[in-house]
Amino acid sequence: MLKVDHLSIEIGGKQIVDKSSFFVPRGKITSIIGESGSGKSMTVSALLGILPPGAKATGKAVFNGKNLIAVSDKEMGEIRKAHLFTIFQDAANSFNSSVKMRHQLYEFSGRRTGDSSQQFQMKMKAILDELGLSAEIVEQYPFELSGGMLQRCMIACALYVEPDLLIADEPTSALDMVLQQEFIGLLKRLNEKQGTTILLITHDLDIVAEAAHEMIVMRQGEVVETGNVMTVFERPEHPYTRRLLESRF
Ligand SMILES: Nc1ncnc2c1ncn2[C@@H]1O[C@H](COP(=O)(O)OP(=O)(O)O)[C@@H](O)[C@H]1O
Ligand SMILES: [Mg+2]
Repeated sequence: MLKVDHLSIEIGGKQIVDKSSFFVPRGKITSIIGESGSGKSMTVSALLGILPPGAKATGKAVFNGKNLIAVSDKEMGEIRKAHLFTIFQDAANSFNSSVKMRHQLYEFSGRRTGDSSQQFQMKMKAILDELGLSAEIVEQYPFELSGGMLQRCMIACALYVEPDLLIADEPTSALDMVLQQEFIGLLKRLNEKQGTTILLITHDLDIVAEAAHEMIVMRQGEVVETGNVMTVFERPEHPYTRRLLESRF
C-alpha cells in the first residue's frame, strides 16, 4: 500500500529524519511510535507534501505506484482527495470556527465523493446516528462542540469517504482516557468494517497494544525497529524498543 524507502528530511541544515524505511500494509493498522520530537509528524508532513518552508525531503514514499515525495502539488491534491484522509491531534484546528458544521462536514466528505447536498444529508445523518451524535450538530459551530465530538465528526467523515489510507497523527492526545478509548474503538471499527488501512501516529505504547497490528519505532529521526506488534512486544530487538517496553509498567 505505502512503501517508504530511505526517506530523509532536512530543515535548515539539520537532519530531522534520517533514511527512514518502513512499509504500511493494506487492510492493517500500523503505528509509528516514538517520543516527542522523534520526527513522526515531519514524516507525515513529507508524505502529505505539507513540510514547512525550507524543509527538504529526499528518498521515496510509494503509494499506489506514485512517489509522494516527488509528485507536484496538483497531483498531491488529487491523490489526497481520491485516496487519503487525515486526522490531526487538535480537531478544533481542522475546522473553521466561523462556519457551521454542515458546510464543513460536507467539504470533508460529500464534496469529495461527488454527492449532492441531499445525498450528503441522508448519508451523514445515518453515520452521525451510528456514532451517537445528534443530527442537530450540523447546525452548530465548531466552538460549540467538545474536542471529543469534533474528533468523532472527523471519524464520521472518514466513514463517509472510505479512504484507502487514513493517517491519524496523535488523534487522541488531546482527549481524556474515556474518549481516547472510544476513539480507538472507532478507528478499529473503521478498519474492521471497511477494511481501511490506517497509519496511526502515537507516543503511547498502550495505544499501539490496543489498536495496531504492525509497528514502527522511531527514535531521534531514525526508524530503529519495525514488525508485528505481538512479535515486537514479546521479542524486541533494538535496545531502545526494549527500554520503551520496560518503561511501560
Ligand atoms: N517548522 C520546523 N522548523 C524546524 N524544525 C522543526 C520544525 N518543526 C519541527 N521541527 C523539529 O523536527 C523534529 C521532529 O519534530 P516532529 O516531527 O514534530 O516530532 P514528533 O511528531 O515525533 O513529536 C524536532 O526536533 C523539531 O524540533
Ligand atoms: Mg507530532
